[in-house]
Amino acid sequence: MGCCQYFAPTEGGADAFTVDMPRVTFGRGTLSEVGERALGWGIRRAALLTDPYLADSEHFARARSSLEAAGIDAAVFSEVHIEPTDESVLAAAEFLIDGRFDGVISVGGGSVMDTAKGALVYAQYPASFETYFGPPAGAGKPVPGSLLPHIACPTTSGTGSEVTGLSVIRFAALSVKFVLASRHLLPDEAIIDPACVDTLPPTVVASTGFDLLSHAIECYTARAYTRWAKVPQANARPMIQGANPWSDLHAAEALRIVGNYLERGVADATDHEARDCLSWAATLAGMAFGNSGTHLPHALSYAVSQMSRDFRPQDYPGSGPFVPHGLSVIVNSPSVFRYTAQAAPERHLEAARYLGEDIRDAAPEDAGELVASKIVSLMRATGVPNGLSGVGLTKDDAAAMADSAIRQRRAIGNAPREAGLDEIRGIFEQAVSYW
Ligand SMILES: [Fe+2]
Repeated sequence: MGCCQYFAPTEGGADAFTVDMPRVTFGRGTLSEVGERALGWGIRRAALLTDPYLADSEHFARARSSLEAAGIDAAVFSEVHIEPTDESVLAAAEFLIDGRFDGVISVGGGSVMDTAKGALVYAQYPASFETYFGPPAGAGKPVPGSLLPHIACPTTSGTGSEVTGLSVIRFAALSVKFVLASRHLLPDEAIIDPACVDTLPPTVVASTGFDLLSHAIECYTARAYTRWAKVPQANARPMIQGANPWSDLHAAEALRIVGNYLERGVADATDHEARDCLSWAATLAGMAFGNSGTHLPHALSYAVSQMSRDFRPQDYPGSGPFVPHGLSVIVNSPSVFRYTAQAAPERHLEAARYLGEDIRDAAPEDAGELVASKIVSLMRATGVPNGLSGVGLTKDDAAAMADSAIRQRRAIGNAPREAGLDEIRGIFEQAVSYW
């Protein structure tokens, strides 16, 4: 495509990209539209999925009463596991099978929406769990066909899962997360009601905000789609297809917004302008990475959540230790972008500019440092952990983390610069602390 040098054709490279999107509704109060929306899909008996902490929330009650007002029989499943596992997804699939529903409504963060997507797959196309995951985790068999209507209603401002065909699930036996990817997983409707994020504590807004920020930079700096091999059949074109003009558009705007509003949204729950904007940016970043894929910060994040043993995040529900997804990503990001900038300096400079940095006097060799230092300054300003050491990991963990991360083959391949085991270990070593 001639409009951008980054997408210049390559020998044997892809010469097309595909965009998949659900219908999107955005605005305060729109959770009250869920009932009518569901009727529009012919849903009369709905499975209403959420997590145990949201089941008593005002947001969940609004969605539920909207369904009731529309005359829809809604059965609640509130046993969604935060950070879903194969076991918890299969439990939700059993619920779907037993209930003989004609549609699913998910109300919650990424864990709830990802569980709904995975459960729909295994309820409708039963198979051993790894069947539909890409290698080396699974057999790479495509999800066979369409799923029941799914209306996704996010209650946080980060995941973007409401507009992607991706579901992140931890294989309990391996304690490693893998991504289930198919256009069939794409929700049919996304209803984003930013009033849901008014009640989020600052630590959650920070973690989810950094998730969306990293989604956007990763999309913008990902390997160009023209540098992936051309697919032999149209339907084999993957969703993790590399940066493209569509993902650029949404990633750039998401970066502009998050650069302007992250600190404000974290600092002040009454700042509706900031929190509304972060909600919109999360959806934009989802529109981007759902059609390009992320790369190293996300690929490496799964090893962070796997290896960290004692980190207990403030203000998160539940009693056990875990690293919230956004934090597990952002502790890697500055180190990753210092590494990847060399392969695509102009893209990293532009990402820094969208985040609000002055790049007028910057040289290509400054690109990685500019992006990294901007992220680090936002991390410090919002009180998130200082790199891997902030979530209880040390340089001595880097080799084992690299061994685990190397299995995220497609995402690692989506980085603009090649990274093998040694390089990934080096990235982890440089991510131990930033200040
Ligand atoms: Fe993410």
